[in-house]
Amino acid sequence: MSAPRWGVTGWGAALPTRVVTNADLAEKLDTSDEWVRTRTGIRERRVGGLVSELAAEAGRHALARAGCDGSDVELLILATTTPDQAVPATSSKVHHALGIAGGAYDLNAACAGFVYGLVAAAGAIATGTSSVLLVGADCLSRITDPLDRSTAVLFADGAGAILLQSSTGSREAAELDAPPGMPAGALLGTDLGVDGTAYELLGCEHGGYMTMEGSEVFRRAVRITVSSATAALARSGLKPDDVALFVPHQANLRIIEAACDRLGIGSERTAVILDRTGNTSAASIPLALAEAADAGRLSAGDYVLLSGFGAGMTWASAVLRWGSPL
Ligand code: UT7
Repeated sequence: MSAPRWGVTGWGAALPTRVVTNADLAEKLDTSDEWVRTRTGIRERRVGGLVSELAAEAGRHALARAGCDGSDVELLILATTTPDQAVPATSSKVHHALGIAGGAYDLNAACAGFVYGLVAAAGAIATGTSSVLLVGADCLSRITDPLDRSTAVLFADGAGAILLQSSTGSREAAELDAPPGMPAGALLGTDLGVDGTAYELLGCEHGGYMTMEGSEVFRRAVRITVSSATAALARSGLKPDDVALFVPHQANLRIIEAACDRLGIGSERTAVILDRTGNTSAASIPLALAEAADAGRLSAGDYVLLSGFGAGMTWASAVLRWGSPL
């Protein structure tokens, strides 16, 4: 079977309406706007809702952007660490809300979940699935102790989604002539990993609140982002200079800046949204990607480097060629 042409044909974001600023948090916690801004880069975050609601909203936007509806989707992958409930998978609710025709499953690889999902989605497309809706969604506020200043200032809620379609799955493909020489989408190189020995650095018991060894996670995050992104680039046969846009996990601006510095990728080629969203775990990369796509920062043929790390400790990097299924 020859590999089908595919591309990301839609993207979408969903954030709760309630904005919580650093000043709001400083009213209840022993913290300050200055500390949070300078130590993390976060100015405000959005809080509220359920993963199923935010995921459905982001998915709906992605489908609308592509001129599709749920009946066009053969597979839904929902990357989340904070499912609405233990059983069934939250993807079942999203499947129902969007009227999706095909299969659906949840994927938990913490903040690396969206990139793990991207690898799974591209694999499904390569083996004949015509369209995959990939959503990263988390409501970390549900498992964050509002009185713990070391985590409450960081974690928040949101969802981002992309639609991958092969040429057989794109409605537009039937209606439009393919522009000559238009590059197809591709996942060129990936790097997935987990260090289970660091299992206890960041976690949450059933019914409890998240605990984190912040500075150790910070140190590892910089190292992992650099080594994993470098591995994915090497497997793609590319160099940091070839990257049109770097979309890192949005946990802490100091982590992003340190990683960019070591990778040799400037801030003008890096997507940052955490100043307005905080850390939204599996949602952070697709939220940043959707904002960049909306802003016209991506063109067909561009190389997009995505890199996430999180509890586990998991990591995942991928080089995505932004392209068209046509
Ligand atoms: O999604 C993936 C997982 N998460 C991450 O990637 C987070 C990684 N870690 C971090 O982003 C940073 O380690 C934090 C933002 C969590 C903490 O920043 P830090 O620069 O590593 O601070 P620290 O933990 O070394 O703490 C420095 C001081 C401590 O006080 P003392 O012991 O020096 O008196 C903390 O108690 O800052 C204090 N502190 C705060 N002060 C004001 C910790 N949190 C706060 C706060 N406001 N919110």
